[in-house]
Amino acid sequence: MTDPRTTPGTAENPTTPDPAVTLVPSASSVTEPATGAGVPNEAAGAAAGRQEDPAARARAALEAARRRTTLLTDSVTEEDLVAQHSPLMSPLVWDLAHIGNQEELWLVREAGGRPGIRPDLDSVYDAFQTPRKDRPALPLLGPAEARAYVAEVRAQTLEVLAAADTSPDHPERLLAGGFVFGMLAQHEAQHDETMLATHQLRRGPAVLHAPAPPPAPADAASLPAEVLVPGGPFTMGTSSEPWALDNELPAHQVEVAPFWLDTVPVTNARYQEFIAAGGYSDPQWWTPEGWRHVQDAGLQAPLFWSRDGDAWVRRRFGTVEPVPADEPVLHVCWYEADAYARWAGRRLPTEAEWEKAARHDPATGRSRRYPWGDADPGPEHANLGQRHLQPAPAGSYPAGAAPSGARQLIGDVWEWTASDFSPYPGFAAFPYKEYSDVFFGPDYKVLRGGAFGVDPVACRGTFRNWDYPIRRQIFAGFRTARDVTASENTGSAEHTEGAGNAGGAA
Ligand SMILES: [Fe+2]
Repeated sequence: MTDPRTTPGTAENPTTPDPAVTLVPSASSVTEPATGAGVPNEAAGAAAGRQEDPAARARAALEAARRRTTLLTDSVTEEDLVAQHSPLMSPLVWDLAHIGNQEELWLVREAGGRPGIRPDLDSVYDAFQTPRKDRPALPLLGPAEARAYVAEVRAQTLEVLAAADTSPDHPERLLAGGFVFGMLAQHEAQHDETMLATHQLRRGPAVLHAPAPPPAPADAASLPAEVLVPGGPFTMGTSSEPWALDNELPAHQVEVAPFWLDTVPVTNARYQEFIAAGGYSDPQWWTPEGWRHVQDAGLQAPLFWSRDGDAWVRRRFGTVEPVPADEPVLHVCWYEADAYARWAGRRLPTEAEWEKAARHDPATGRSRRYPWGDADPGPEHANLGQRHLQPAPAGSYPAGAAPSGARQLIGDVWEWTASDFSPYPGFAAFPYKEYSDVFFGPDYKVLRGGAFGVDPVACRGTFRNWDYPIRRQIFAGFRTARDVTASENTGSAEHTEGAGNAGGAA
C-alpha cells in the first residue's frame, strides 16, 4: 500500500503492507553515506537538497506530518478511533501510537542515544509481529494515553534534532543529511496516507472536508491523447537524494526503447466505456489470475462505486456523489488496470518507462527530481498532501508537466506499472532488511507517482511503492502505454522530442 513497508498479507489474510518499519535499529545502520560520485546524469536537485539546512527541513517535515496525524485522529470520535473499520486496516489509535513508537525507536533511542520512554510498547506496535486484522485484540494504548505518548516522544525528538549533527558528510549514514529524521517524517506521512484510506473505508457521515481541486485548465480538452518518449538510455534511481529510501538506490543507466504514453491518467469516463463494453465479463482482457480474481471477488466496477439508475455514483469520505467523468479513475486493482489496457489495445508502462517519462530531460540528458525540474513540489505542480480529498481533473497542473508533455505523473493517483517490485543493480538494504528487501519478487506490483493523499516528503520521481495486484483500497489508478510501431518511424531522439506538449516549468 502506499506505504508498502511491512507485514506481508495474502488474499486469505488481507493485511496490506504497512507503512514501514518496525525493527530495532542494528549496527548495520551505521555505514558509509551514499554518494552520487561517479554516477552520470543524476538530478542536480539532490545537490540542491544537500545545500539546505537538513535539520530545518527535518523539523518542518516532522511537524507537517504531525499536523496531519492530529487532524486525522481528532476528527473522529474515540469510539471510531479504537474501532477497526476494515480488516485491511489497523484501528486509527494503533497507527497513532505506532507512529510514536517508531519515532521513539529511531530518533529518541537510536539517533539520540537516550533511554527508552516505553520499551514495553515495542512488541505491541511492531507491524511485523501482528497482522492488521489482529491488532484490535492487542493491549493498545487508549486514545488519551496514545496522544500523551506521541507528544512525549515528539518533545524528546525535537531536543535530539536540535543537538544533532546532520551535515551531509556525517560519517554515520543514518545521520548524514538528517536521513533518519527524514525517514521518520516519511514514515509518519505514509501512515497519514494509510489513515486516510481508513477514513475512506469507514462508514458514517463525513468528518473530513477539503476544497475541491481547481477546474481543468483550458487546454485540457485539446491535449494529445499520448506523448512520445524518446528511446535511449536514462538514469534511473538516485544515489544523491538525501532522504531517498534504500529501494530507490543506486542511480543506474537503463536503456528504454521509444514508446507512447497516455498524456494523462485514464479517466472515469474512459473506464466506464470499459465497463459498458462488458469488460468485467469477458475473460479475453484478463490474465488467468486476474480473471479468477474478478470472478471470486465479484468485481464489476471500481471499489466504492455503485449504480444509481443508469449512472454511477461513488462514496467518497462519507459522501455519495456522481462519479466525475474527467477525474482519473481511482480504487482499481492491478488486474483491472491491466485488463483495461488490453481492452484498449495498449499495455501498462513498465516502471522504467514511467520513470523515464517522469524524469528524463532530453535537452540535458539528466534525470530530474520531478517531472517539472528539481524544485520541491508546490501547489502549482501537483495534487499532493491531502490538500484536496480527490484527484484533480485530467489535464490539470500544466506547470507540473514532464518534458515529454505528460501531466499528473506526480500526485492525484498512484499509477500501477507493469513491473514486479525488484531491486536495482547494486541494491543494499538500509537501514534494515525488512524495509524493502523482504518484499522483492513477483508477489508485488510497483506503483509510481503518489496520490492526493501523499505528502510531498514521501513523493519523488524516484519513489517506489508496491502492493498486491488485488489491492483496491489504496489511492491507485493508472495510465497506459504502447510500443512505437515500425511504420511510425520515429527516428532520432531529437525528432521525437516535439511530440509532447512540453509545458513544464523549469
Ligand atoms: Fe509503520
